[in-house]
Amino acid sequence: MKEQKQKAANAEKSADILRLTVPTKEYLDQVWDYRRECLEADSHMDGCGPLRRAGSPSEWLAFVTDCMNPTSLPEGRILTTQFLAVRKSDNKVVSMIQVRHYFNEYLEKYAGNIGYSTRPEERRKGYATETLRLTLPFCREIGLDKVLIACEPDNPASRRTILANGGVYECTVHEPREDIDLERYWIVL
Ligand SMILES: CC(C)(COP(=O)(O)OP(=O)(O)OC[C@H]1O[C@@H](n2cnc3c(N)ncnc32)[C@H](O)[C@@H]1OP(=O)(O)O)[C@@H](O)C(=O)NCCC(=O)NCCS
Repeated sequence: MKEQKQKAANAEKSADILRLTVPTKEYLDQVWDYRRECLEADSHMDGCGPLRRAGSPSEWLAFVTDCMNPTSLPEGRILTTQFLAVRKSDNKVVSMIQVRHYFNEYLEKYAGNIGYSTRPEERRKGYATETLRLTLPFCREIGLDKVLIACEPDNPASRRTILANGGVYECTVHEPREDIDLERYWIVL
């Protein structure tokens, strides 16, 4: 009961604290700082596109922008919308999330529709949960009626983020490329 109350209080605290925006030049310094923080923490950078291997902030911006538009989509890529979750009080980018509009074989089996992360300094404040919550209406708008999200079994934070947003466990699969197991969850929209 106490735990339930605490959760409700946390949810209230994080609601209406963030807004989603697509990346623009204005946010590039912050995106690069997000990358630095993740690298220093040796953390995964899910939901950021090719940020880890990008040569420069502008190279990253050009690529994710191209991937958001059918007319500029690079050959063989999947239409993907990149969002930054920005804290309203200080305009800080705290989380990043990507929505893949449809599947290729790999996404359908393993990676799913959505990837996300929170910058290491801002974790455990409810931001990933809120970022995913804010993203689901967009998924409906683009015509999806359910989304697939995958997480590794040893990633309780991601699992709880998914469950808090209504995710339902389907099964665990083995991803051969990285030799990892992945739990598959569906959120019906
Ligand atoms: C997974 C990740 C996005 C969570 O971000 P976050 O902003 O800290 O998440 P939240 O604060 O919304 O917390 C979500 C839930 O996970 C729990 N949690 C957070 N960090 C945790 C940890 N290290 N261990 C266990 N639980 C944790 C929270 O308590 C919360 O659970 P609750 O709602 O039941 O109380 C973040 O750890 C991250 O960026 N990891 C690297 C990238 C990644 O793994 N992305 C997911 C790919 S599927």
